[in-house]
Amino acid sequence: MNKDIIKLTNLVKDYNTLNKKIEVLKKINYSFDKGKFYAIKGHSGSGKSTLVKILGLMDNPTSGKYLLFNNEVSKLSDKLSSYYRMKHIGFIFQEYNLNPYLNAIENVIVPMLFNAEISKKERKEKAKELLKKVGLENRLTHFPSDLSGGEQQRVAIARSLANSPDILIADEPTGNLDKANEKIIFKLLKEMSNEGKCVIVVSHSDEVNLYSDICLELDNGKLKEVNHGK
Ligand SMILES: Nc1ncnc2c1ncn2[C@@H]1O[C@H](COP(=O)(O)OP(=O)(O)OP(=O)(O)O)[C@@H](O)[C@H]1O
Ligand SMILES: [Mg+2]
Repeated sequence: MNKDIIKLTNLVKDYNTLNKKIEVLKKINYSFDKGKFYAIKGHSGSGKSTLVKILGLMDNPTSGKYLLFNNEVSKLSDKLSSYYRMKHIGFIFQEYNLNPYLNAIENVIVPMLFNAEISKKERKEKAKELLKKVGLENRLTHFPSDLSGGEQQRVAIARSLANSPDILIADEPTGNLDKANEKIIFKLLKEMSNEGKCVIVVSHSDEVNLYSDICLELDNGKLKEVNHGK
């Protein structure tokens, strides 16, 4: 049994546009482990979002292997792939992507609606607990429009934790936030990796270096570890 949560072997992603093929990921070989905070950097257009969308089961590679808990993702049925995404992966977006018509508790409950293992009563309790964990115990019934950007992102983090995933993936989670909020978000993500989750964060910010265990750079289709001076 392989101890890695995620193992990529010769992972390739091409996009075919009208007149040419864009080779974004070129035979990537890399393994991600639990309890580690990975920062992914790379210039705009280098393929960071493409990579994390594949890791988050929101897109498929063109070729190569993606093993998730030793299961080859391309061989999972649609149903099993959705189950894995619901149960094992929490995804955090730059734009928060909260439902504007739901309050904080209700937004956090949404992913639990697909999880038969959590009863209706437990859902609300768990949502409150998660919102407390991200420091929003005084904002439980606020709607997204009545929350600051940093608070909205913390609701999104609580939501990503709803089904107790093993993997947390964030694509530029602090892209719309100021330095103070950036620290709060990275600190929370670091706590999650300390609790044993595999945390993968795309970020342009140097601030992430203070929190990450491993810094990766995506360059010319290849992913490599870089030393950020720790
Ligand atoms: N659906 C698509 N069809 C065609 N090309 C695409 C598609 N999605 C992304 N690309 C191209 O793939 C390349 C990588 O895009 P990607 O969004 O992964 O970059 P990124 O590293 O996340 O950039 P940024 O830092 O600006 O967010 C870009 O050249 C982009 O134009
Ligand atoms: Mg991107």
